[in-house]
Amino acid sequence: MTPPLTSLVNERLLAGRTAFVTGGGSGVNLAIATAFATLGADVSICGRSEERLLGAAAGLRELGARVVTSVADVRDRAAVQAAFDRTADELAPCDIVVCGAAGNFLAPAESLSSNGFRAVVDIDLLGSFHAAHAAFEQLRQTRGSLLFVSGGQSLMPFELQAHVGAAKAGVDSLMRSLALEWGRHGIRVNSIVPGPVAGTEGMARLADHTGEDLWNDMVPLGRFATAEEIAQLAVVLVSPLASYVSGAQVVVDGGMALTGTGRFNQAVRAAFTASGNGA
Ligand code: COA
Repeated sequence: MTPPLTSLVNERLLAGRTAFVTGGGSGVNLAIATAFATLGADVSICGRSEERLLGAAAGLRELGARVVTSVADVRDRAAVQAAFDRTADELAPCDIVVCGAAGNFLAPAESLSSNGFRAVVDIDLLGSFHAAHAAFEQLRQTRGSLLFVSGGQSLMPFELQAHVGAAKAGVDSLMRSLALEWGRHGIRVNSIVPGPVAGTEGMARLADHTGEDLWNDMVPLGRFATAEEIAQLAVVLVSPLASYVSGAQVVVDGGMALTGTGRFNQAVRAAFTASGNGA
């Protein structure tokens, strides 16, 4: 039976839940972990930088969450498994898993090395698979929710982002496959597709080359998102509010996918070339 709406929509929406966020030490992923903690969840975060993780954990604990941090590169399957095992031991089996760890840089496809292409595919796609795979037994036990963080590059080609587009399209395909296969275990699987988000490492790299004005013009809502606005969608999708949502790729981009990437593509290629990096 569906619980009454008023019993769901309250400040303890995620109370008693354990959430795991890869790449949770910074950026949008930290905003997601913070939103979960604000609504009562305990949180486990992993990432490559211990310093970032410890800083993030301090903020999450101030919100009342119990927190586990694990230094783990999502490319390392054993390290990811160890992080999930610790989470179950120290908190509880995960109800919520967010595969958010990502890598990015601008590079023309023709000068991208195999290792460069592989680095991004390994972090974004293989790393997401590693986290989902390592989480499966816990999610099966809790009948939990799995959320991937995709990107606009999955929907439309962006200049100098061939590697990221391939990786993010793979992430969305993986999302649909797992939603299909794991639905029978009561596991919901979805992805979010953020547009430009203010204050993130990824946007700083892109805006260096294009200026922020161009991006704002490309977004019908006329501005970047805040990381918190992306996190709000993540909350809805992993919560009981979305109890019948699975296999959905949900765009949260202020309408940017409607405008196409043509102007961005011209500007970023010109700026990249002018900076001495381009072909
Ligand atoms: N242009 C072209 N190639 C690049 C590059 C760039 N700006 N940055 C890295 N590469 C290539 C390297 O040259 C290397 O290939 P090579 O061996 O043929 O020279 C390959 O990518 C791996 O580089 P390395 O520095 O060893 O990778 P890493 O695993 O340490 O770093 C990255 C991963 C490359 C994704 C790095 O950009 C990163 O970690 N970024 C931080 C996270 C981030 O970007 N967050 C924002 C998410 S939107």
